[in-house]
Amino acid sequence: MTMTAPKAANMNADMAALAKRYGRVSIPAAGPWNDVIAGLLDHRSVRGFKPTPLPKGTLETLVAAAQSAATSSNLQTWSVVAVSDPATRAEFAKIANNQKHIEQCPLFLCWIADVSRLDRLGTQENLQLENTGYLETFLVAAIDAALAAQNAVVAAESLGLADVYIGAMRNDIVRVAELLHLPPGAMCVFGLCIGYPADGVTNAVKARLPQSAILHHEHYDASNEQTIRAAYDAELAVYSKQHEMAQYTWTDRVLSRVAKIKAMSGRHELKAHIQKLGFPLK
Ligand SMILES: Cc1cc2nc3c(=O)[nH]c(=O)nc-3n(C[C@H](O)[C@H](O)[C@H](O)COP(=O)(O)O)c2cc1C
Repeated sequence: MTMTAPKAANMNADMAALAKRYGRVSIPAAGPWNDVIAGLLDHRSVRGFKPTPLPKGTLETLVAAAQSAATSSNLQTWSVVAVSDPATRAEFAKIANNQKHIEQCPLFLCWIADVSRLDRLGTQENLQLENTGYLETFLVAAIDAALAAQNAVVAAESLGLADVYIGAMRNDIVRVAELLHLPPGAMCVFGLCIGYPADGVTNAVKARLPQSAILHHEHYDASNEQTIRAAYDAELAVYSKQHEMAQYTWTDRVLSRVAKIKAMSGRHELKAHIQKLGFPLK
């Protein structure tokens, strides 16, 4: 069931958080609620950071949170590289279409889909591993890395830190692998900037598609999708006008990312580059 937005003054914390997450389009009915859920719903990406260093032990705490994520068959096919060297950061920023926050943030993490540890185990056990070269194992590693990183993000935000993922590291994964000295069978799937938000940086909660577009019961049903999209377009137009440099709709944003190959910034050749990094993707 969805409802129209109630007046802010009458809202409980859960309804207010749901209203921010879904904007004025369609707020789902409130259900169970706690501080963890409140934190999740309050997520927003931040693209400007103070140089303030993080409290001692923060990195280790975030990695413990990351390692607490579920991992396929406990294979733990991921690693993470914390990079502070300014020259390496500058090169990453260039690879990622000049995203300056990569150089600014006090903590920059490269999340690695890492099958190399299994390959080394095979070598040490004098065994030719038959399964590590398959697409399935690469996917397992990429999923493991993403789940681990998201746990770190949730932990960081719960500590009052801000963050933004950097998928644009994939613009040149071969160079990124060289800079990180990655062995064959290891690939940086994305980066992550973490730190305290700089003053004046836009960091409002960005409304998502209504649940009716995402949540299906028994069978997939996209019959109402165009109407839902029009409503969400209007919502994001309001958001972008208030919080970003240019006004755009969701349709504008999707088309700008997926209509033309140019927008892939070289990633249309990713399969060949991943293979170069020692993943046969059989
Ligand atoms: C895997 C991944 C890669 C991303 N890469 C970038 C990036 O390179 N640069 C950037 O500014 N934002 C990046 N983002 C952030 C998304 O743009 C952002 O999550 C999305 O617009 C929704 O906004 P929100 O996080 O503020 O809710 C990435 C997000 C994910 C999950």
